[in-house]
Amino acid sequence: MAKRRRKKQVVVAPASEPPMRPGIIGLSRTVPADIVKPPYAATGDPGPSVSSLTRTPEELDAMRRTGAIAAEVLIHAGQFVEPGITTDKIDEIVHNETIRRGGYPSPLNYRGFRKSVCTSINEVICHGIPDNRPLADGDIINIDVTVYKEGVHGDNSCTFLVGDVDEHSRKLVAETYVSMMEGIKTVRNGSKVHDIGRAIERHARAHNLGVVKEFIGHGVGTEFHSDLQIPHYYDARAKTELLTGMTFTVEPMLTLGHPDLYLWEDEWTALTMDGRRSAQFEHTLVVTDDGYELLTVASDGTTAAELYAPKPEAVTS
Ligand code: MF3
Ligand code: CO
Ligand code: CO
Repeated sequence: MAKRRRKKQVVVAPASEPPMRPGIIGLSRTVPADIVKPPYAATGDPGPSVSSLTRTPEELDAMRRTGAIAAEVLIHAGQFVEPGITTDKIDEIVHNETIRRGGYPSPLNYRGFRKSVCTSINEVICHGIPDNRPLADGDIINIDVTVYKEGVHGDNSCTFLVGDVDEHSRKLVAETYVSMMEGIKTVRNGSKVHDIGRAIERHARAHNLGVVKEFIGHGVGTEFHSDLQIPHYYDARAKTELLTGMTFTVEPMLTLGHPDLYLWEDEWTALTMDGRRSAQFEHTLVVTDDGYELLTVASDGTTAAELYAPKPEAVTS
């Protein structure tokens, strides 16, 4: 009898839970006429980046106020994270709280994005579109809030734990926050853009976590995404010197498995190829002479991550 040729097996990481699926996306929410809108709100097209890499003192003051609102809206949204709430409801909460504070939710109609916030669950890396999926016990969810007010944007995000979350995911979330702060701590007048990614990648590697390469931090200020590019891994070409007054985000996405990704047909939702989980945190900051100043901090000095992110020491083994 001829030996049967073994069929080549494609090894896929075992899925421990139902994979994420596109849900039903509700209508875009409306913004009152008295809220000042960014230029792209009408057309969806932000056009090419034309703004300076550095802010004027007046713009910086506006970014402190708008950044505080972005932080407070994110903290507010965090209070509602629990099993059963849909991401569309989170969208409504973020949308209404932003408007209540006189701001415009920057994602709304940015390059055609249909909702007011990004909600990225489990293996969704970023840019998840709020829909009718209820949060389930054990999920992790990144909520990415950006607010436009006084002519400037404040961009920040936090990954929240939903109910009882497994230890690997808690560690992923905790270390992703630490990696962001390690990257941010390299920042000062005269440091290099690649110092940030080097610190993030080093921390990720020490904890056996992947670093997503396709999405990077960005200049932010009068424009939502301006020219400065901040990779979250070491890129020798990212030699740009940081100078006092530059404003940008640091927003690493770390993965339990391989960081390769694909997009859903909505052309926004980015997911890990292997279906394993991804976490992200984000701050907007400004370079100072001897360090940095976080701009996405609530007026009482707190941040969503400090309130909600698990601490590495609280994660056992
Ligand atoms: N807030 C995201 C970032 O950190 C960008 C979202 S773009 C959107 O850069 F259109 F999806 F909102
Ligand atoms: Co950003
Ligand atoms: Co963001």
